[in-house]
Amino acid sequence: MKKILIIGANSNIGAFLAKQFYNDHELILHYHRNQERIKSLIEGNGVKTIQFDICNYTDIKDSFTKLFSEKKDIPDAVIFCSTERSKDFQKLAESDSKLIDSIINTNFNGLCYSLNILIPFLRKKNGARIVLFGSNVSRIGLKNGSVYAATKAAVSSIARSIAIEEAENNIFINVVSPGPVQIDNSQFSPEYRKFREEYYMQQSEKIPLGRVANFEDIYHTIDFLLFKNSYITGEEIFITGGSL
Ligand SMILES: NC(=O)c1ccc[n+]([C@@H]2O[C@H](COP(=O)([O-])OP(=O)(O)OC[C@H]3O[C@@H](n4cnc5c(N)ncnc54)[C@H](OP(=O)(O)O)[C@@H]3O)[C@@H](O)[C@H]2O)c1
Repeated sequence: MKKILIIGANSNIGAFLAKQFYNDHELILHYHRNQERIKSLIEGNGVKTIQFDICNYTDIKDSFTKLFSEKKDIPDAVIFCSTERSKDFQKLAESDSKLIDSIINTNFNGLCYSLNILIPFLRKKNGARIVLFGSNVSRIGLKNGSVYAATKAAVSSIARSIAIEEAENNIFINVVSPGPVQIDNSQFSPEYRKFREEYYMQQSEKIPLGRVANFEDIYHTIDFLLFKNSYITGEEIFITGGSL
């Protein structure tokens, strides 16, 4: 049994992973805003929850310092799901500057802050494993989502460097980068839902395996990277059914 921290456990993918790992592992589930959802997700024995905004360095530091005061409480594995989407789905030239800042802050600064604070704790564990989320849009581009796509490229870039920095501490860090994943679209505004559905339709026609990814596809890759992988670090693994 390992201890797994899921940052952004309320996310579509994070919530599925939490349910999959629940029976065999100890979980620490992080959330940002949606306390009710995280509570309803898993109400099992021993599941800890933790709340902070990944853009707030002091809050992250306080939360982790409190939670990981003893070595036995430090996770063996971290899955980082938190993200902000391009909710305005505009060309860069038309994007709102506040949203640009917010996407970069959450998807890149927030990730850097979190890892900056977490890694010194993880060094105390032997063989900690980190999985981050990129996206296939970092290599194919995303019309009307350029800032989001660029932050996802930054995720795989920083993982590459951290892998080299932390190899001597036996910390492995890898990135999974899915193409479109079948998620519950009902939470989105009608306009954003339409944008997503059109994008998914265009993309799925180009997928050799003939379907978009599902949560199980992601889970199997992450399970491998966390618990069966002995020699892969700093890599980005694309989960795209054969498409580029
Ligand atoms: N879904 C896809 O098709 C797809 C495709 C390729 C890559 N990915 C990547 O896979 C990962 C998971 O995607 P998803 O679709 O499951 O995500 P999602 O459902 O959009 O959830 C994003 C999560 O991020 C958290 N969050 C947002 N701002 C935050 C902040 N400032 N501080 C802390 N947490 C914050 C939210 O937490 P609360 O709910 O608690 O507020 C939310 O649960 C992301 O990195 C995404 O880029 C997804």
